[in-house]
This record gives sequence, C-alpha cells and structure tokens, in this order.
Amino acid sequence: MVALVEAGYNPVIIDNFSNSEKAVLEGINQITGRSIPCYEADCNDASIVRMVLEKEAIQGVIHFAAYKAVGESMDQPLKYYRNNLGSMLVLLEEMERAAVRHLIFSSSCTVYGEPDVLPVTEQTPVQTAMSVYGNTKQIGEEILRDVIAANSPLKVIALRYFNPVGAHSSALIGELPRGVPNNLIPFVTQTAAGIRKELTVFGADYATADGSCIRDYIHVMDLAEAHVAALNKLRHLEASSFYDVVNVGTGEGNSVLEIVETFQRVTNVPLPYKIGERRPGDIPQIFADVQKSASFLAWKAQRSLEDSLRDAWRWQQQLEAKK
Ligand code: WQD
Repeated sequence: MVALVEAGYNPVIIDNFSNSEKAVLEGINQITGRSIPCYEADCNDASIVRMVLEKEAIQGVIHFAAYKAVGESMDQPLKYYRNNLGSMLVLLEEMERAAVRHLIFSSSCTVYGEPDVLPVTEQTPVQTAMSVYGNTKQIGEEILRDVIAANSPLKVIALRYFNPVGAHSSALIGELPRGVPNNLIPFVTQTAAGIRKELTVFGADYATADGSCIRDYIHVMDLAEAHVAALNKLRHLEASSFYDVVNVGTGEGNSVLEIVETFQRVTNVPLPYKIGERRPGDIPQIFADVQKSASFLAWKAQRSLEDSLRDAWRWQQQLEAKK
C-alpha cells in the first residue's frame, strides 16, 4: 500500500483480517498521510467484491488474499484450496463483470519445487508441488493462463515471490505472525527479543557450503516496489490480453547459518541457536535469476540482506516497546 501511494496510485483494501491486524492500517495511514479505504470482508464474498469494484471505480487489482503457511496447508488443505483458489475465481468473475482488465497475482517460487539448475529462471520447469500451498499457486497460474487463452481481455503478471523478509524502515508496519512463527526471520527476531529460547536450524547436512539451506531473501519493500513496476507495465502494454510470470528475488542466495551470522553482526544482539533435524518438505537451495524482472519490469531489488535484517529487528523492537 505504501509503495502504491508513493507511486501515485489510490489503493483500496479488501481484507477479512484473518491473517493480519487492523492496527496495520494505522501504520499505513501514518506513513502515507492518507486514510486508505478498507473494506473488512472476505474476498470469497462475490457481492462485496462486486460492490467495491464498482463503487471505487477500480482500474487494477493485486491479489494478495491467500494463506501462505506451507505446514498449515498440509494440515488444512480444504481451507487453502477454498481460500486461495475460491478468492481467485470470485475475483476473475467480478473483474470480468466490471470490465476491470489489469491483475497482478501473488505467486511463489514454490512452483519450482526442488530445481535441478540454479539460479531459477521463469523457464525453469514447474515441478509437482511439494505442498498444498505451492499447489494453490501452481493452479492459480494455470487458471489465469487458461482464462486468457480463452480470449478474456485480461492483462496479468504473476509475480513469483522468493522469501519476503524485513519491515518498513519506519518500523510502523511489518510482519505479525500468529503463534509460533513458521518462517525463519520472525523466529530469529523473536529469539533475539527473548520471546523464543533459541532458534533451531533445520538441518546442517545439506549439500551446500555450510550445510544449511539457501534461500533468496528479498526485502518486503523491494517486493512492494516490484508490484508497482508490474502495474505500471500493464498500463503501458498495448496488447488486448496478456499473461506472463516474473521472478521477484534479489538473485542472491543466503544460507540459514549466514542469516544467523549476519543478524548478529548488524544488530550486535546474540542469537542463541542449535542445529536440529531437517524440516520435512524443505528444499536444499533456491534463488532467483533476476534478468527478466530487470528487463521486463525495469525493476531491481535495492536493499541488502543487512537492510532486511536490520529493519526486521527494528520492527520487533517496536512491537516489544508497545507491550
Ligand atoms: C527458510 C529457511 C528453513 C524456520 C517461504 C514461505 C513461502 C514462500 C517461500 C512466498 C528454510 C529454515 C526456518 C526455523 C529454520 N514465500 N528455518 N528454522 O520454507 O523457504 O518458504 O518462502 O510465497 O510462503 O513459507 O521459508 O522462512 O519457512 O524457511 O532453520 O525456525 O529457514 O528450513 O531452510 P520457506 P521459511
């Protein structure tokens, strides 16, 4: 939202707050100096989506309304298929009805499974999903491709996110995981804050330089700016209908143990950790080839891993200060 406002867009939010806090709106409004219209509703509710598209004269849509916890998706597949794909179908039907033509889809590097060659390009074969979450992203891309192949006048860019991390530099908005964090960086910052006793590194016997898994950690504000670049691209595309996918990462891979070392170095905060067993479903390494995002979107990640970890820590400290 912040990046959209800063780029001159007038965003409108639909959110049922099942996976976020309303307080984030205060932070967005404080940063932007605007009161962003927000409809507390489920994106599976066609009547609400229809009303908002018409009432707010929406020109383009970014579909963020998906659950994203890989482990949870294996325990509750129907919840994930209903929410992630149901909301996509409702959105496409209501966009068609309202003649809204531009869509950015939040996809994921999980569609690549365990790649044979690194870095992964957009031509790297999509592999059978290793999780329900990953499958909802693959099916989402297939739905979009099939709808456009059937001559729907839609223009769509699917952004394959790598690992979004960090927080806005103001520390007014950031990630709010519910319960014990599944993802690495919030677990790191909660451990550094004393909320968790120690970080468990899930495996140090992988075929990587230091044995721990490698991922492409991209600052969430870089990711946000990639969405603005993609929307701008759609607005300037002549084609009557369009579909393409773009990797959104930094192009760099960092291991879990490098994250531990870098976090301690940039924050001067000790991070207790131990080496544990591998986590089922983890792949040894993946990171993005970023040539297409640079050439097609004229976008490149600007922030470093150090920036991401510093901002993630400042956000955690802000949360602690509010308690
Ligand atoms: C990263 C690494 C873990 C926690 C995420 C999202 C998924 C998708 C891709 C957008 C792994 C290790 C973690 C811990 C650890 N994003 N780890 N100890 O699995 O790459 O997937 O990015 O679509 O939605 O879930 O991210 O942060 O869970 O794990 O050692 O306590 O950190 O083994 O190697 P992952 P993650």
